[in-house]
Amino acid sequence: MTDALSILVIGADGQVGRVAYQDLLRRGYEVFGTTRRTEGEAKDCLFLDLSLAPSEWPELPPVDVAVICTAVTSIAECENDPDVTAVVNLHAPVALAEKLTRQGTMVLFLSTTGVFDFTRPFRHHDDPPCPVTNYGRQKAEAEARILELEGKTVVLRLTKIIGPDMPLLNRWQTELASGQNITAYQDTTIAPITAVFASRVMHEIIGSGTEGIFHASGDDDLPYTVLAEQLIRAMAVDPERIEARTGNMKEYPSGSSPRFTTLDMSREGEMFGVPAPSSLATMRETATRIARENLATGV
Ligand SMILES: NC(=O)c1ccc[n+]([C@@H]2O[C@H](COP(=O)([O-])OP(=O)(O)OC[C@H]3O[C@@H](n4cnc5c(N)ncnc54)[C@H](OP(=O)(O)O)[C@@H]3O)[C@@H](O)[C@H]2O)c1
Repeated sequence: MTDALSILVIGADGQVGRVAYQDLLRRGYEVFGTTRRTEGEAKDCLFLDLSLAPSEWPELPPVDVAVICTAVTSIAECENDPDVTAVVNLHAPVALAEKLTRQGTMVLFLSTTGVFDFTRPFRHHDDPPCPVTNYGRQKAEAEARILELEGKTVVLRLTKIIGPDMPLLNRWQTELASGQNITAYQDTTIAPITAVFASRVMHEIIGSGTEGIFHASGDDDLPYTVLAEQLIRAMAVDPERIEARTGNMKEYPSGSSPRFTTLDMSREGEMFGVPAPSSLATMRETATRIARENLATGV
């Protein structure tokens, strides 16, 4: 249990934000959240829509730490609409971080392995960013501008988050359950982690009070076909039902589909005793969970 530091999770409804909110609460922090939703589950969160001008944002609570989990993560959306997406991915987080650091709050900004060009594995913390997508460019610029602010700032880069709500795995599960084959890329890789693991690394960073760049990554780049194999195994269906595909994922600019996505975690290993988790085990456990949960609900 940590001393009751207060944490504001900005974007507490997202894939990472909602898990981090619960996980940090469970670890003993005093946790608050923000949402851009006006009704339903998110009623007790502070309303914050980053597409509004900063002058329309609410007063932010004087917390010890703020974790910025908001983003437009769709590669295609950032390619198609760079100006609008840059508001949420670049301009708003920088303005938010300025406001927060000015009031003495430590800012932890979530970023992505997509600040690199996917041509080499195990990117180091101090490798210069070399993004190949608008999403990666927006995040790389936001990282740099937040890190140069006065006050305590941290960038935590993540690799692909997978979990039971992953749309691709759920689509494959439905296709397999209805007797169809599934298609998976054999030349595009991920080094997946869970949102719970990302939250654990946040907890370690917050506990240490250290600034700078941190990574949370799986230990290996594995193709999407390996993820498909884990689901096939979990559902006990014929392995021949995977159709391997090669080529460029359509949402990425030509020739830029990820070949290598791993991030070096030696700093986190040395500082926190947290090594990179097994990419294969993360895939296997997630696939098993999806197969089990969908079997239970009859999907
Ligand atoms: N998921 C991954 O595989 C992955 C990998 C690497 C890095 N990351 C990074 O991790 C962070 C969290 O990603 P995620 O997967 O949790 O993304 P997500 O599930 O898409 O969640 C994004 C969050 O941002 C909120 N948001 C979007 N536009 C907003 C706006 N105009 N004003 C206020 N909030 C807004 C969303 O609100 P609504 O829920 O209401 O839409 C949602 O809560 C991001 O910085 C992302 O770049 C994610």
